Amino acid sequence: MTTMAGRAQPASSEPYYESAPHFSGEELVAGYTRDIDILRGLTARIWKGRISCVVGPNGTGKSTLLKAMFGFLRPSAGQILLDGQDITGSPPHQMLSLGVAYLPQRPSLFPYLTVESNLRLGLWHARLKKSEIQDRLDRVYARFPVVESKRRQPAGQLSGGQQRQVEIARSLMAEPSVYLIDEPTAGIDPQTSESIYEIVAGLAHELGKAVLLVDQDIRSALDITDYVYVVKTGAVVASGPREEFGGDTDALVARWLYASGE
Ligand SMILES: Nc1ncnc2c1ncn2[C@@H]1O[C@H](COP(=O)(O)OP(=O)(O)O)[C@@H](O)[C@H]1O
Ligand SMILES: [Mg+2]
Repeated sequence: MTTMAGRAQPASSEPYYESAPHFSGEELVAGYTRDIDILRGLTARIWKGRISCVVGPNGTGKSTLLKAMFGFLRPSAGQILLDGQDITGSPPHQMLSLGVAYLPQRPSLFPYLTVESNLRLGLWHARLKKSEIQDRLDRVYARFPVVESKRRQPAGQLSGGQQRQVEIARSLMAEPSVYLIDEPTAGIDPQTSESIYEIVAGLAHELGKAVLLVDQDIRSALDITDYVYVVKTGAVVASGPREEFGGDTDALVARWLYASGE
């Protein structure tokens, strides 16, 4: 059938989303108090070179999911797996050493330190030779010329979009394989947002990182996403590769989220 032709796969190559993920949260249950679960059995998986995106309304548990996956919150049930290895309960500094980067929703730079000092702090947990640190700085500057041009300025003097770039540059210093990114363009103007989404796309599609993006800006996020989780009150209500959501992705997602009341 012609309609199937484009989707046919050779028998031996399964689609990436059926292969073992690089990093995942499996059936996570977590919350801030003992009696209220914010995550209710949530599973989210990411693959190298791919972006998985968790979309859902405000207050649904997206940031909580990333905090649980980075070790700020210990899940009361479920597992965090890295290459199939159970690392549930590892604290944040250990997650960093395992190659997991976390970009929180709020700005996280030291505003009074220079951009370059902030970049160096991306390696606080690692013991590296001076020459290796310089090599990494050079590579990061080559990727982010704007960051290099501001390297002697206090980070707090940069625009919101530039600070986002510095945060991403800082995380790259540690050469992580996994990125957990929380609303990268919250509070940033639409034009700058576009360039931030391009940078996030590059992390996966050029540098081969496994990216988990959570966002309320469904349309922009889905433009760069490979795999989608639609989450409502701490549980996945729909998931699949973005193509399966059809052409008008945001309308579909909106229908899932807002149809049939709360
Ligand atoms: N530090 C906290 N202590 C207690 N409750 C929290 C805390 N942070 C978030 N919550 C609650 O957890 C729920 C999910 O929040 P969050 O994960 O931030 O949602 P989202 O990122 O999807 O907007 C909300 O009801 C919120 O009020
Ligand atoms: Mg949030």
